[in-house]
Amino acid sequence: MELYGIERQAPVFFQDLVDSTNTRIKQLAAQGAPDGTLYIAAAQSAGRGRKGRAFLSPPGGLYLSMLLRPGCPAEEALSITPSAAVAVCRAVKAVCGLDCGIKWPNDVVLGGKKLCGILTEASTDQNGLFLVLGIGVNVNTEEFPPELRPVAGSVFLHSGKKTEPEALTRVLIQKLDELYAAWKADKNTFLEEYRALCVNPGREVLIGDRPAKALGIAEDYSLQVEYPDGTKENIAYGEVSARGFYGYV
Ligand code: BTN
Repeated sequence: MELYGIERQAPVFFQDLVDSTNTRIKQLAAQGAPDGTLYIAAAQSAGRGRKGRAFLSPPGGLYLSMLLRPGCPAEEALSITPSAAVAVCRAVKAVCGLDCGIKWPNDVVLGGKKLCGILTEASTDQNGLFLVLGIGVNVNTEEFPPELRPVAGSVFLHSGKKTEPEALTRVLIQKLDELYAAWKADKNTFLEEYRALCVNPGREVLIGDRPAKALGIAEDYSLQVEYPDGTKENIAYGEVSARGFYGYV
C-alpha cells in the first residue's frame, strides 16, 4: 500500500476527523487487522490521553495510531513506548530541524513545553498481545486554552514556522517502521538514544508529592531517583512531574 509516497505492507487508513485513532485501531484489531496497521486523522473529536485525560486534537496537528502485534509477552513490550518517543524526536529533527527532548516516560518536549503525547494501550485477542500505539503531535497550534498554556507547546509556537502535518506524518511513519523493525530484533536498541534525549536526569522530580532528584534511566527504562534522605528508588511507571518543564501537572 502506498501512502504519502511510502510503500509499506500493512494497511493505512486516513480520515479528516475521527473520535480517536486509538479507538478506531482497536475496532480494526477486533476485525483481525494485521501488525503495523496505521490509522491517521487530521483532527480528533475525542482524542484520549493517559490517565483518562482528553488530548486536544484540532486540525493542524498529527494524530496517528499503529497496531502492533509484537509476538512477545507484555513485560517485554514495555520499551516500545519510550522507543516511539525517540522516533518522534528523530522525525521532528528531520522535518523541522528542531531538537526535542523526552520527559520521562514518554512526553516529547520542546522549549520546556509538551509537544507530543503517546498513549499505548495493550489488549489480547486469539493471536496474543496487541498494542495500540497512539501518537499526537502539536504541530501548527497557535493558541492553547488557558489551562493548557503552561504545559502545552507546538512546533509553530516554538519556531514561528508552519509545518505541513502531512510532511511530518510521512517521516514519522518511516521512523516508526524503522524503529519497529529494529525493536523487534533488540528491545533495548533505543535505550542509549533515549537516555541522551531524556531531560529529567539532574533535575528535581515529584514522585507523588515527594520531591526527589532524577539520576538517570535504568536498563528497563525506569527512572532512577534519589530522595533527600539519600535513599534511592527506580520508578517503573507513573506520573512524575518534572520541575522546570511544566510545573506540576
Ligand atoms: C498523553 O500525553 O496523555 C497521551 C496523548 C496521546 C494522544 C494520541 S493522538 C492519537 C492517538 N489517539 C488518541 O485518542 N490518543 C492518541
